[in-house]
Amino acid sequence: MKIGTIGTGNMARSLGILWAEQGHEVFFGSRDSYKGKSVAEFAGHRAKGGTNDEAVAFADVIFYSVREMPSSVLSSTEVLSGKVLIDCNNREIPEGFAFEPIFDESLAEKLAANVPNAHVVKAFNTMAQEVFELSPEPLKEYNVSCFICADNEQAKKTVMTLAEEIGFSPIDCGSLRSARMVEGLGDFIRFMIGGMKLGSYTTISVNKVLEAKKQRLGGRNAGYR
Ligand SMILES: NC(=O)c1ccc[n+]([C@@H]2O[C@H](COP(=O)([O-])OP(=O)(O)OC[C@H]3O[C@@H](n4cnc5c(N)ncnc54)[C@H](OP(=O)(O)O)[C@@H]3O)[C@@H](O)[C@H]2O)c1
Repeated sequence: MKIGTIGTGNMARSLGILWAEQGHEVFFGSRDSYKGKSVAEFAGHRAKGGTNDEAVAFADVIFYSVREMPSSVLSSTEVLSGKVLIDCNNREIPEGFAFEPIFDESLAEKLAANVPNAHVVKAFNTMAQEVFELSPEPLKEYNVSCFICADNEQAKKTVMTLAEEIGFSPIDCGSLRSARMVEGLGDFIRFMIGGMKLGSYTTISVNKVLEAKKQRLGGRNAGYR
């Protein structure tokens, strides 16, 4: 798969390297072509680097690690048409981690409104970069969820595969509207990591306790939903 990054920061560098290790063709895009090239050199695995515009032109899947909208980052957003755009962004942490609930529009929905011809997929916003260091093995053993939502099913499947390849447990969270909840989880994990001082190696996952099916307590009766 041809993967491009917008930005060469913590998230884009780490995930770009991991996908390059998996045999994908990766192009690191930056505001500064030289920076893109030097991250590519660091990544190895025949990764390329240059500008954000070049990364987008090169790739079928774009990892978007910038909070600004594509219309202000790229010369033209036309080139994003039909491409998968992975949004890993979380909003800025407010003073004292006092996040307001996300009621009406997530960052991912805002992104999708900015580039309606791209297939925006929310993913990778609920784990800290530090966790990637164990990818793909032995990370797999830790069952770390990667919560993924999108309106385009094929795009979502593509990103679920990319998450699984690097050791995460992909969790299908439905349509892009669910990004409101997934970004809320991003806020929650950052509160736990920073606010409650659990540290960056703390993760958030869904687990099934199928053993509980035995229902020794009488099971669930009709009542509140
Ligand atoms: N770090 C984490 O552990 C983590 C985990 C989950 C989610 N996230 C979220 O992922 C996003 C990226 O986080 P990060 O830690 O990778 O941040 P970062 O290290 O600051 O990287 C962001 C990159 O975006 C580019 N950029 C910054 N400002 C820009 C602007 N005004 N216009 C265009 N490009 C700009 C820069 O790349 P160039 O200089 O190469 O252009 C920068 O290196 C954030 O929204 C964050 O909340 C982070």
